[in-house]
Amino acid sequence: MSVNRLRRCELAVPASKWKFIEKASKMNVDAVFLDLEDAVAPSEKGNARKNIITALNELDWGSTTRIVRINSLDTEFAYKDIIEVVEAVKENIDIILIPKVNVAADIYVVETLLSQLEMANNISKRIGIECLIETAQGMMNVEEIAFSSPRLEAIIFGIADYSASIGARTSAIGGHGGEELFEYPGHRWNYAISKMVVAAKSAGIQAIDGTYGAFDDPEGFRQSALISSALGCDGKWVIHPNQVSLAQEIYAPTAEEIERAELMLEAYKEGVAKGAGAVSLNGKMIDAASIKLAENVIKKAEFIRETNKITN
Ligand code: COA
Ligand code: MG
Repeated sequence: MSVNRLRRCELAVPASKWKFIEKASKMNVDAVFLDLEDAVAPSEKGNARKNIITALNELDWGSTTRIVRINSLDTEFAYKDIIEVVEAVKENIDIILIPKVNVAADIYVVETLLSQLEMANNISKRIGIECLIETAQGMMNVEEIAFSSPRLEAIIFGIADYSASIGARTSAIGGHGGEELFEYPGHRWNYAISKMVVAAKSAGIQAIDGTYGAFDDPEGFRQSALISSALGCDGKWVIHPNQVSLAQEIYAPTAEEIERAELMLEAYKEGVAKGAGAVSLNGKMIDAASIKLAENVIKKAEFIRETNKITN
């Protein structure tokens, strides 16, 4: 993985809403993305950029990852989103998030522009990239996109635009379970999310699940997050403060999982010392593969402790 960051929760904040931005900076959330795209009306794009510059330069974001979602590359806004913001905030941004990525060359455009901006402005760090896969074309090319740039740190499933792009018949944004399951016999996003996860993980980067629009339905959110977590997603987008602690909790290992992982590592170590490659623990087989799963759990738990992030 290029950079070790927690992304259990990425909070969407329309950059035209200063009050939301201020609130988000104090929430100790893993990542916040200040949005210049779909949550901002065309007439407000310029003001929203100014808010972002003030917010990144003047507010204290603690250990929250600072992301800016630019407008898509086929709009008149995208070049200014990148140039105006990066020139004004320099090191005070961690990630540029590109929406509606269709082909690997879309990443290259931003990658090259960032390299020029970093040189011209003596920016001493490498600004990362995240991208949204939210079109049929983007999903078709996701494998190539995943390997397109060393700056690319995560791929996000843009569930609403993706539904529209493929012509899916759906009534709500982000349902993996809940009512939507009754309209479809199974998990309707299994193929898309799994395809994205395989591409991301093979490139050593993170995979993030999209939004769950019903922000006053914690049970639906939980179900949706648990399903994507089971499929390998590292976190989820959230749109409302109500959903933050849920996401940070669900995508973190539970105390039980940590305890089980520690017991597995111990039992395996003892087995190996006695010359056994596979051992049993409480009626279950443990071998070298299960140890990788256990190590994932321990590593993630340690990282969360180190960064001192809330889990509930
Ligand atoms: N970030 C930071 N603060 C937020 C927030 C967000 N995304 N959404 C709501 N809040 C704040 C409100 O300011 C309010 O604060 P207060 O109690 O101090 O006044 C509090 O949380 C409760 O908000 P609420 O009244 O329940 O929500 P709302 O009706 O004002 O807004 C939405 C609902 C959905 C419009 C709003 O949450 C939102 O704009 N979310 C982001 C949408 C987005 O970015 N979409 C594009 C990417 S998917
Ligand atoms: Mg979208």
